[in-house]
Parts: sequence; C-alpha cells; structure tokens
Amino acid sequence: MTGWTARLTIDHGELDRQHQELFVRVDALLVACAGDGGRVEVVRTVGFLGDYVLRHFAFEEREMARRGYPRLVEHRGLHATFAYNLRRIRREIDASGPSSAMAGNVRRLVVGWLVNHIDRSDRDFAQFVAQSGGPPSPAPSRRVA
Ligand SMILES: [Fe+2]
Repeated sequence: MTGWTARLTIDHGELDRQHQELFVRVDALLVACAGDGGRVEVVRTVGFLGDYVLRHFAFEEREMARRGYPRLVEHRGLHATFAYNLRRIRREIDASGPSSAMAGNVRRLVVGWLVNHIDRSDRDFAQFVAQSGGPPSPAPSRRVA
C-alpha cells in the first residue's frame, strides 16, 4: 500500500484497521489514475475514498468525545480542512478525469497528509487513551464497516 508502513501503527486496534482501509482505498484511486479504466473508474474510486474518509473521521471524533480528549476541537479542524481539500480533488477529477498529474496530486496531498496526520495527531490521541486507561477499542457494534 502506498504510504502505509508498520511505523504508522498507533496501537489502537480499530483506528489502525480503519487507517489501513484508507490506504487501500487511496491505492485503488492511484491505480485508477494510472490505469485504463478511464473517467468512470477514477470517479468511482475517489468517491469510494471520500465516503470512507468521512465515516472514519466521524468515528474518530466520536471516540475522542467519548474519551474526553482535550484536543478534540483542534483535531476536528484538521479533519475539516482535509475533507475540504479532498472535495476539491474530487471536483477536479469529476471535471478532468484521470491523469498522471492527478496521481501526483493524490500522492502529495492525500498520502502525504494521511501519513503526517496519523503519525502525529492520531498517535497523540492513542497515547492519551493508553494513558487514561480502559480498553483501546470500542464495542464491535460501534465499528465502521
Ligand atoms: Fe484523525
């Protein structure tokens, strides 16, 4: 998976699982940017990624609220900025279809942001959870499919 390494594990089982799913979906988009599936496939995969990003962010923010994480507002702002940028990328893809330039944008803006965000901001939350005790993962019914 582009961008994912074991170093990005934050020791929060459910969030680690969701983060890997994000990278799986980014990979599908990168393949679509370079492949011959054309516009239909690249529009489909950017939607596939965008939908999961929003569900993942909502889940993570619910967990932060549930835990009383003091940096929730700041973290929510980071998510909102990324979601805005991803919507812009989605609109560009809708308008112009796949290209190697678009694949470069996705690598730089999406992969680069995710790696940095998980490694710093999400890890900060996971460490807060570990320090405050209690099980790191929510009940299965609260998970994001
Ligand atoms: Fe996050």
